[in-house]
Amino acid sequence: MTPKISLTRYLVEKQRVADRIPSDLRLLLEVVARACKRISHDVNEGALGGVLGTAGTDNVQGEVQKKLDIIANEVLIEANEWGGHLAAMASEEMEGIHVVPNRYPQGEYLLLFDPLDGSSNIDVNVSIGTIFSVLKKAEGSGAGVSESDFLQAGSKQVAAGYCVYGPQTTLVLTVGDGVAMFTLDREQGSFVLTDEDVRIPEDTKEFAVNMSNMRHWDAPVKRYIDECLAGKDGPRGKDFNMRWVASMVADVHRILTRGGIFLYPWDKREPDKPGKLRLMYEANPMSWLVEQAGGAATNGKQRILDIQPKKLHERVAVMLGSKNEVERVRSYHAA
Ligand code: AHG
Ligand code: MN
Ligand code: MN
Repeated sequence: MTPKISLTRYLVEKQRVADRIPSDLRLLLEVVARACKRISHDVNEGALGGVLGTAGTDNVQGEVQKKLDIIANEVLIEANEWGGHLAAMASEEMEGIHVVPNRYPQGEYLLLFDPLDGSSNIDVNVSIGTIFSVLKKAEGSGAGVSESDFLQAGSKQVAAGYCVYGPQTTLVLTVGDGVAMFTLDREQGSFVLTDEDVRIPEDTKEFAVNMSNMRHWDAPVKRYIDECLAGKDGPRGKDFNMRWVASMVADVHRILTRGGIFLYPWDKREPDKPGKLRLMYEANPMSWLVEQAGGAATNGKQRILDIQPKKLHERVAVMLGSKNEVERVRSYHAA
């Protein structure tokens, strides 16, 4: 029987054999994975653990916070602040950055996360997740750390991933040489490598978009979806299927597993807002994972990973997944 490869062994080999990651980054990823295990446990407890329902507060985006949004945020902060590998953290649930307190050593890395993605699905027992992105303080940026250290394009990420809490708990990770998936073995308490070279098929017949917003979309997105809906008799000459979980982690996980395209486009309801999803802790990590698996990610005009962020909580339009479909919808924006 071939031995199971744990996340720990995978990361040690990435460091020692492939010389792909330094030991500080390995430690950081181990700690993030441990925090995800803790969150997975809380998610599984559900009503028994008193973790369902709203917290009665709003976050910086003006969204109502669920208890689990806050719990997951605290788990990630507490797990990561004392290890000595981080300078600071940023989260969807916190207005400013969380600098590592000076009672702990400070490292060079910056961790960004959406602690609980898919909040509307918590109370209805549908897949949710945690999304994370790791940057490094730029060389020569001096002592201390501030919000401006975080404002780096997604192409600068040194690691990115998510953990989906679904029928299985699965951690998906890239350090820039492909995408690996690890399934949580609850008996052993460890993540086990279950897919090493994740590839997204270049073509697909499956799209994911919130169709209820269709009347607010811009012409290129409407054209793309109209053509999909026209099926076999339309210009695409094939029937399409649609899925929308309303947890980005779950929709992206499906796309990494069997292909597809995911769209959360700009819409006319709030014309000054570029989109709903957040660039730094949703779009960037997911776009890098998708590109590392052979897919593509754009906001319609620009590769997401090339966008220079201007602020921490910046929003962005997102279209990602199977390469040829993303290229098609991008070309409609250029027409
Ligand atoms: P979050 O729960 O972190 O706020 O993110 C929810 C996001 C994303 O996961 C999902 O794709 C999208 O919001 C769903 O939006 P709609 O409810 O508008 O469909
Ligand atoms: Mn989210
Ligand atoms: Mn969230």
